[in-house]
Amino acid sequence: MNINPTRFLSDLHALRQFGASGVCKGVVRPAYSEADIAARAWLAGKFEEAGLRVHYDPMGSLFGLSDAPRSLLLGSHSDSQPEGGWLDGALGVIAALEVARAAKESGGPAVSVVSFQDEEGRFGVTTGSTVWSGELTLEEADKLTDRTGTTLAEARGAMASQVGDFVDPKQFTGFIEMHIEQGPWLDQAGEAVGVVTDIVGIRDMRITFEGEQNHAGTTPMHLRKDAFQALGAFNALIGERFKNVATPQTVWTIGHVKLHPDAHSIVPGRATFSMQWRDGDADRLGRMEEIIRNAASEIADAQGFELSFGPMLGLEPVAMSAGLRSALEASAEEHAAGRWRKMPSGALHDATNVARYLPVAMLFVPSINGISHAFEEDTDEADLVTGLEVLAGAVARL
Ligand code: GLV
Ligand code: MN
Ligand code: MN
Repeated sequence: MNINPTRFLSDLHALRQFGASGVCKGVVRPAYSEADIAARAWLAGKFEEAGLRVHYDPMGSLFGLSDAPRSLLLGSHSDSQPEGGWLDGALGVIAALEVARAAKESGGPAVSVVSFQDEEGRFGVTTGSTVWSGELTLEEADKLTDRTGTTLAEARGAMASQVGDFVDPKQFTGFIEMHIEQGPWLDQAGEAVGVVTDIVGIRDMRITFEGEQNHAGTTPMHLRKDAFQALGAFNALIGERFKNVATPQTVWTIGHVKLHPDAHSIVPGRATFSMQWRDGDADRLGRMEEIIRNAASEIADAQGFELSFGPMLGLEPVAMSAGLRSALEASAEEHAAGRWRKMPSGALHDATNVARYLPVAMLFVPSINGISHAFEEDTDEADLVTGLEVLAGAVARL
């Protein structure tokens, strides 16, 4: 199979133009935005040129299907975070396209390609592949809302004229997702490739403290029910209690906060915020949930706040398939001898959901300075090409 690195890099840069932020190589291409839908249309054209049959599923996940009865599925996602990098997801989709093209040109193995929708969780956590995997029904998913209150049903209406049925996973023999590491380890070690052993689990929900909105000048401190202060106390309390359960791999994040009414001179009456935590051990995720729920209740009860929890979304930790992994490892040894490692993924990926249907595996390339989910995200082009070679080599072995 003769992959073409120049064509691969040129397509990767072309995809970056959709939603280009103008800052570094960053992109603003959240799921169902104009830029996301236009990028998918461009990708669909590329899939067609490569001799793949274009199909959108009801979520807007885009497939380029091989005409063979059974094929290996490769891909990732092309939506981005509200402030995203050019490679997160895009790399896996364009690498898949290049391998499918090269395989077709050389009469190699049958390869299909996918770009899942809303991997970045505008509406949840890896929403497109979660719905495809049957973990969440379309009906349930449609009720999910983004940070501004738009429902998924409303957002995916923008793609209504393009979509068809869900794709039958039985036509695929397995799934491999190439991705940037999004962490510091490969870059720090000067290594070119990571073969993923397993992907951590995640829990994610919204929490609301409701206090009392009042005047910021006249309301004495002891009479306030300031929802932001409740959030601050909650954050400190869980930080303290997590010390008893967290390992160095355990992470938690309050990444989104909405204060109402969000003004300098008003004691905020309501604070709604995201609470997300991740770990490789499902039991630990459960113990952390208990700490979170108890800490929030204790603060609400002690200070007279109303408390509510939104729906809890989550994905379980998942191990990669031994068979697919060994093909990646053999290929890594050929193309990056002494410069690759086995490693877990601390980021979530569509592969977690696909594992419900198919054997899955992943490979990583380094992220410069470990930066991702930021406009500054980047990878040396030589490492991008090495990753592509490792992927193609694994596909050829399979
Ligand atoms: C996916 O981008 C994640 O948040 O890990
Ligand atoms: Mn990603
Ligand atoms: Mn991401």
